[in-house]
Amino acid sequence: MVARRLAEDSVQPAEFAFNNDNAQWAEKRIALYPVGRQQSAVIPLLMRAQEQEGWISRAAIEKVAAMLDMPYIRVLEVATFYTQFQLQPVGTRAHIQVCGTTPCMLRGAEDLRAVCQKKIHPEAHHTNEDGTLSWEEVECLGACVNAPMVAIFQDTYEDLTPERLEEIIDAFAAGKGDTIKPGTQIERHNSAAIGGRTNLLEEPTATREKFVPPPAPEAPAAPAAPAAPAPAPTTAAKPKDVTAESAPALKEPARKGAKVSQAKAEGERLQADVEAKANGKPNTAMREGAVGSEAEGGKVDTGKAPGKRTRAVPAEGAASAGTAKAPVRKVKGADPAEVSPSADKGGIAPLFTAPVGPKDDLKLISGVGPVLEGKLNALGITKYAQVAAFKKADIARVDAVLNFRGRIERDEWVKQAKALAKGGVEEYRKVFGKDPR
Ligand code: FES
Repeated sequence: MVARRLAEDSVQPAEFAFNNDNAQWAEKRIALYPVGRQQSAVIPLLMRAQEQEGWISRAAIEKVAAMLDMPYIRVLEVATFYTQFQLQPVGTRAHIQVCGTTPCMLRGAEDLRAVCQKKIHPEAHHTNEDGTLSWEEVECLGACVNAPMVAIFQDTYEDLTPERLEEIIDAFAAGKGDTIKPGTQIERHNSAAIGGRTNLLEEPTATREKFVPPPAPEAPAAPAAPAAPAPAPTTAAKPKDVTAESAPALKEPARKGAKVSQAKAEGERLQADVEAKANGKPNTAMREGAVGSEAEGGKVDTGKAPGKRTRAVPAEGAASAGTAKAPVRKVKGADPAEVSPSADKGGIAPLFTAPVGPKDDLKLISGVGPVLEGKLNALGITKYAQVAAFKKADIARVDAVLNFRGRIERDEWVKQAKALAKGGVEEYRKVFGKDPR
């Protein structure tokens, strides 16, 4: 960084004034800023002074300071800090800024600088003999891709050779700078590759190929349990409620009507419950509306005592247990009376009867974590012995409900569970040669 000083006194003009157009422009510019913040216009005013005179003189700095009611030193600081301000007189027809930063230097900037030294002046910031041309070296001007380049006032000239720069300088010296087209000086389109594009060369097709979505993944295998076939839907077993799936198909009035009747029925049940409690009688209305009743789409086990009902589980092929949208069936071997209420967690209906007694730590089975253990418990699986006794059909059922895709067999759950059931961790070590998990 070189010290930037004002030009020698010998070249400093006695005074400076904006011409009429620029004076009007300056007035408007200053008025853009809030009262008390007019000093913010210092850079625009200095730039306009430079555009008018070609460089910033001491008189111009004093003028701008007076217009903005700023101390002179503050404006001087700005003018000497930013290299965009020329502090020496420049050529009246061209001031050539040669980029000397690495990309341009690698591509021949030094040769361009030599041209300027030869045709204008050996030293930067000096005009030629008749004062029409000057030059300087600057840092990157942002056109590196077309290096080497120079800037002349507000235009850039890129992809230069020393010969081409000489031609350009001659044109400006003759007052014909406007005949030179700015930008790249070779057969290049903007900043594209020399010689044309090298990619995206295919002709665009007139029409797009129609997008074909990939096939949906196959549904998990249906549980192969010897379960009783799902009961044929009857009018009596038809859900009265409107499910989220069927609702969109209904017309708006029908949907509203369904909601109203549902709310009304709920109100009646609650009222009956209050009255029944007051009279010390069982509330049949509440039982009828409970989950699993006919009104809710479940199946009432009428062969059992009042209040006992079958658990609703997904029909064969249902993707997830716990959803009440699919038709339901009764799980063979799962006596509702024996199912622990705590087993029904996370919307998973039990497939097995949870044995009485404390649960085993299923997490010792490799591949079972706390979350999966909770799901297995919800299915009624709480003991190693249950897993150890899994038949192929059992594995298929659990696999389907938990969407395991063969994980039970892959991870040898049955073998692991057999070892754990037989002798706990010790037996597991014997069989597998390592600690469980
Ligand atoms: S290096 Fe020269 S324009 Fe960027």
